[in-house]
Amino acid sequence: MSSLLEVRDLQVAYGQIEAVQGVDFDVPAGEIRTLVGANGAGKSTTLLALSGLVKPKSGSIRFDGVELTKLKTHQIVERGLVQVAEGRAILTTLTVRENLELGAYRRNRGRKDRAAIASDMERVIALFPRLHDRIDALAGNLSGGEQQMLAIGRALLAKPRLLLLDEPSMGLAPIMVQDIFKKLREINLEGLTIFLVEQNVRLALKIAQHGYVLENGKIVLDGSGAALLNDPKVLAAYMGG
Ligand SMILES: Nc1ncnc2c1ncn2[C@@H]1O[C@H](COP(=O)(O)OP(=O)(O)O)[C@@H](O)[C@H]1O
Ligand SMILES: [Mg+2]
Repeated sequence: MSSLLEVRDLQVAYGQIEAVQGVDFDVPAGEIRTLVGANGAGKSTTLLALSGLVKPKSGSIRFDGVELTKLKTHQIVERGLVQVAEGRAILTTLTVRENLELGAYRRNRGRKDRAAIASDMERVIALFPRLHDRIDALAGNLSGGEQQMLAIGRALLAKPRLLLLDEPSMGLAPIMVQDIFKKLREINLEGLTIFLVEQNVRLALKIAQHGYVLENGKIVLDGSGAALLNDPKVLAAYMGG
């Protein structure tokens, strides 16, 4: 059976720098899969290629059977592949509500759409009660963890079929990270497929059914999250022994 996302021999270069060197992976519908690796391994570049934000040198990216490498970013988003960008990229001078509404703006074509968006807005706010409490606050005044929740909420309002996340744990206190990962699991249990990129190898492999380990632009190991968590090579390289 074919996966929702199928990436084959993906290569991306920045001039002479071969950031991604022939990567293959799959994301089946309903799963959480993760791509883990150290800083500079090529994780963000891989995600940027999926969203059409960098142009691959070669390879194929098929999403629900459709080749994405020829499509523009907005067409990819409209097909349901939505990214929560690294560094969160929320609009700090807008309110929480305005940021959430921006996530849905491409869906907003009429009265029926607005009703669906309003109901999705309710769900996102129920998922993240902290956003409910701060709905009229300027996004720039939120804590780092709240900003990450807002970025995820905004992506959910675009109605993804596959949610891509680039290091949601970055820069957050451990307790906040736990909270956000718990929410990701909840979202997945409600049926959303997730592809998560992380430097926090332990956490990512704990939440994911299947993981891929990226080193210098190549996948060097892949297996179930549980198997990789106990793999001596993974333990030695990424978990301090
Ligand atoms: N815009 C860019 N221009 C040139 N080199 C880049 C650019 N972005 C990333 N790189 C390089 O590509 C490699 C992979 O980077 P990146 O995909 O950001 O890795 P990761 O997300 O795993 O930390 C690194 O060597 C990085 O320095
Ligand atoms: Mg990165």
